Amino acid sequence: MKILGVESSCDETGLAVYDTDAGLLAHAIHSQVAMHAEYGGVVPELASRDHIRRVIPLTRGVMQQAGLALADLDAIAYTQGPGLSGALLVGASFANALAAALAIPSIGIHHLEGHLLSPLLANPKPEFPFVALLVSGGHTQLMRVDGVGRYELLGETVDDAAGEAFDKTAQLLGLGYPGGPALSKLADTGQAYRFKLPRPMLNSGDLDFSFSGLKTAVLTLSKKEDESARADIAAAFQVAVVEVLTSKCIAALKQSGLRRLVVAGGVGANRALRERLNAETAQRHFEVFYPPLELCTDNGAMIAFAGALRLNADQPAADGRFGVRPRWALSELTAPV
Ligand code: KG4
Ligand code: ZN
Repeated sequence: MKILGVESSCDETGLAVYDTDAGLLAHAIHSQVAMHAEYGGVVPELASRDHIRRVIPLTRGVMQQAGLALADLDAIAYTQGPGLSGALLVGASFANALAAALAIPSIGIHHLEGHLLSPLLANPKPEFPFVALLVSGGHTQLMRVDGVGRYELLGETVDDAAGEAFDKTAQLLGLGYPGGPALSKLADTGQAYRFKLPRPMLNSGDLDFSFSGLKTAVLTLSKKEDESARADIAAAFQVAVVEVLTSKCIAALKQSGLRRLVVAGGVGANRALRERLNAETAQRHFEVFYPPLELCTDNGAMIAFAGALRLNADQPAADGRFGVRPRWALSELTAPV
């Protein structure tokens, strides 16, 4: 089965072709980062308009890269939510129109399920069950994953998401938008232990997180220090986030009795986080899995892949009607039977 995946939930247009026999055949992403940068964040209306401009050329590109004609496709998967409603509507309308024209099924995919299952696109890939750390711009969650659609929430952030904390802290340090990669680059040049920032909820005894206080602590510190301390502040922030995330992952593995950890979402691209997780899991004979680096942030491959898994498990495709779900909790998903 060959599936086209369409991702348009936020500021990246992602297209991909996944083949259930041969694996990922092609994927392409257009990031709108440069367009939104001058506004300091994503402007939803501009995002929608740009998705419209990009989706057809990107589709042509991945079909060509895969060496396929549209008639070779067996199904189309698209991000149905959560995300920006206008942006989601572009992908959903395109996917459903193309599926109707080709007389093939379409299937709406939960964006976070895409992230959650994306480590299965790597080699080696984890077997179910596993603990998943989902760390993106909008979410920070620990889940127990027993199979497709079988997700149990173990803990989550009570305020900001980890990616959001990276972005807001980067803005405080004058690094622009989106801040995660820039902050992490600056942090790698600084000393992590010159300043000591709080480790929020490190010893809370549960698997929840809190990151908004950390941002305030950075604000206070950066007002006290001058420009030359920026890299050390960035490093102190990064190590605080990394320590909390790592410690809660280890606690989740211990509590659940599982041995495999899967890390997904944009913050999963963070080098310091990967190094720490690798070291701490190895020490305890746990295993850790990541998606391929370029599939950590938003992309069409994870959507095509999640669509393939659900269709393969006989989940019925959409019935020609479609809608988007800008707010959609992962806990509402069910396993295909
Ligand atoms: O998963 P994603 O692409 O989009 C959402 O669904 O949110 O995640 C984007 C988030 C942003 O907050 C971005 O700053 C963060 O991931 N991010 C990083 C890194 N790369 C992306 N944060 C820290 N270090 C990175 N290297
Ligand atoms: Zn995402």
